[in-house]
Amino acid sequence: MPGNNKINGPSVPAMTLLRHSGRSLSDQIREEFAQAIGEGRMSPGSRVPSCRDLAAQLGVARGTVRAAYDMLVDSQLLVAKGAAGTWVSDIPQPQARNDGQEATAIAPLAAIVHAFDRPPLTFQMGVPADDAFPAKVWSRILTRHAREMVSKPIGYSDPRGSRALRQQLVSYLSMARGMRCQESQVIITNGYAGALGLICLALGLRGQRVWTEDPGYLLARRALEMAGVEAVAIPVDEQGLCVEEGMRLAADAAAVLVTPGQQAPLGMTLSLERRAALLAWAERRAGWIIEDDYLGELQLQGRAAPALAALDGGRVLHIGTFSKNLSPSLRLGYLVVPAAQAAHFGEAAALLAPASSFVLHNAVAEFLHEGHFMRHLRRMKRLYSERLLAMLAALHPFFPQASRAALAVIIVLPAGTQDTRIAQKALAYGMAPTPLSVWYQDEKRCRCGLVLSVTNMPSGGFVKSAQRLKALVDEWG
Ligand SMILES: Cc1ncc(COP(=O)(O)O)c(C=O)c1O
Repeated sequence: MPGNNKINGPSVPAMTLLRHSGRSLSDQIREEFAQAIGEGRMSPGSRVPSCRDLAAQLGVARGTVRAAYDMLVDSQLLVAKGAAGTWVSDIPQPQARNDGQEATAIAPLAAIVHAFDRPPLTFQMGVPADDAFPAKVWSRILTRHAREMVSKPIGYSDPRGSRALRQQLVSYLSMARGMRCQESQVIITNGYAGALGLICLALGLRGQRVWTEDPGYLLARRALEMAGVEAVAIPVDEQGLCVEEGMRLAADAAAVLVTPGQQAPLGMTLSLERRAALLAWAERRAGWIIEDDYLGELQLQGRAAPALAALDGGRVLHIGTFSKNLSPSLRLGYLVVPAAQAAHFGEAAALLAPASSFVLHNAVAEFLHEGHFMRHLRRMKRLYSERLLAMLAALHPFFPQASRAALAVIIVLPAGTQDTRIAQKALAYGMAPTPLSVWYQDEKRCRCGLVLSVTNMPSGGFVKSAQRLKALVDEWG
């Protein structure tokens, strides 16, 4: 085709550049590479041609190739090693199967979670600041506990988790979340997801109905479905979960799953009135309130409201996680159950979901005990507040409707906008916005938009990312 350039080679994806398509050549090169790497056609750890060689092969300017490579480096698909050249990132990419079956995604949740084991991308939800982790002090503490563990006698540990950590959590939760509990009520879990799984099993929720917030956390809804629980979508308004609607839509529900501290994703706190209504419902119905306190006291404006479990008379199962305030790679969370349920849940944990290695528990316990955790939280709040302001300032010229929501900014876009497509396209630019529509369960309520986490800021600030996001919304929305 006149005006087109076709090339193919061992370390270059087959590429057809369209010179008059309205899309820049560097963008086309970037997209071809991103696709080839994503599909496993370029192997991890392989070298790509120099800018000069590829530019000569393609008949384009060297700067065009460099711009494409820079974007691919930003999105962690390529690694620039200076004089040693540019390489495909050696983090394994999903490989196509060669056994004749259709290629399937190897990683779990591939349609929702864009990649595991990678540094966070700009706007990516659910990951704390990568550049603020207290690595030095943490590594000192962790090493000491790993050594100590080796010298301990071999044997089974308490399936509810280390006593040291459960004790620390009792004092921390009393101070930070207004909860009064005993160490026997605390079970250490593999994050929030681990706690939710344990609850489903211990309460025998299979076959029952559970209210879930709409919009709400997609992975929790999927987890309930996987556990054979029917998630009933209950709307959320400016006061949080609409308890009356819950009673109207599913009066027979066995439980409710709620984020009272800062609603996920909209960020409002469940009002006092709604808290009282929810607790009264649970009491009357002998139902369970599963409190997802995923952000805990990590609130940027004002003082965080106490946990719902602080007001409880025995119906709240409180889940906390270290995924948001330390690191999701610790895979560490906790469940606090009412006193009357402690023995049952202890047994369920022992039989179905025993706690992980105590090395980690004891290290986190010391991190809390020595005051490092509170100091770290204070620093994170300050840092996130600064990043939030910087992000709003960068976004507002392009998206005047951008508004804050917990540790994120939400941009609501007109109905019918293809927010999932925009989010998908953004990955190639090192950005991972979450489409707003995926948080909704009921199509009638569904809104389109983008949810952008403030926690990680690209090295050059948010302005370039805001510009790119606007271009993507204009092109693909
Ligand atoms: C609403 C909500 N709850 C809980 C979690 C934490 O889950 P985990 O502890 O399994 O990492 C997240 C993480 O993104 C979340 O968004």
